[in-house]
Amino acid sequence: MELKAALAECCWGHPHEFHSVITSTNERAKAWAQAGAPEGALVVADHQSAGRGRFGRTWVAPPGTALLFSVVLRPALEPPRAPLIALLAAAAVRQAVEQDTGIRAAIKWPNDVLADGKKLAGVLAESLLAGSHLAAVIAGIGVNVNQETFATERATSLYGLKGRTYQRFGLLATILEEMRIRYQALLAGDSVALLAECRTHSATIGQDVVLSGGGGQIRGRAVDIDSDGRLVLDTQDGLVRAVAGEVTTGEDVL
Ligand code: BTN
Repeated sequence: MELKAALAECCWGHPHEFHSVITSTNERAKAWAQAGAPEGALVVADHQSAGRGRFGRTWVAPPGTALLFSVVLRPALEPPRAPLIALLAAAAVRQAVEQDTGIRAAIKWPNDVLADGKKLAGVLAESLLAGSHLAAVIAGIGVNVNQETFATERATSLYGLKGRTYQRFGLLATILEEMRIRYQALLAGDSVALLAECRTHSATIGQDVVLSGGGGQIRGRAVDIDSDGRLVLDTQDGLVRAVAGEVTTGEDVL
């Protein structure tokens, strides 16, 4: 399916840009947002030469295999609530993947999508501030669609899970629609359904975890996601609420 045809029914993606190669769709969307791109402006790429992940990591995928895009959002939210955008993006990807492929995926807090315990998709949400006001959020999403192999055993793709290739832009349209539904509810003041969904489909809650970030580590049992999207950990020192960080679970917790 052509990108233009896939986006025809979407409320986001107007305007949109498609790049055969770009450094990073997030970088381009950020520059576009700074130059006045409207809400819903979308940047899609076949390949990124400098794709970025969380914590300054790189995001790598062979040309033409992954779904790589960034959407410009202009939410009327207080900056501390901006992390909810990343959460809603992960929830939307999880739902869209299930809807389009039947694959049962889970959300690893805060915004990775796992299937079969391996990373299927990641979200990099970046805020642009104008003073103390949230001018835009760039929601950048990478979904492993048709990659046949990975350098790590911790990643998978739709192809790896189902043994067949998928139309990337059809999935893009489903993700955008699922994002829009959750985004409208959030802006209308309703984050209850989103948080319930994140709890129900969490790969993190109920696990003994190590949370790394900000130069330190916290060890505890993940017991909840609170109304601001923070991870609640039951630790030796009582309940701790984490706004951000990287969670390690399972056999990786020594
Ligand atoms: C992560 O898991 O660390 C987040 C990965 C986010 C990758 C996507 S690919 C499209 C967009 N452009 C980027 O440079 N990064 C995001």
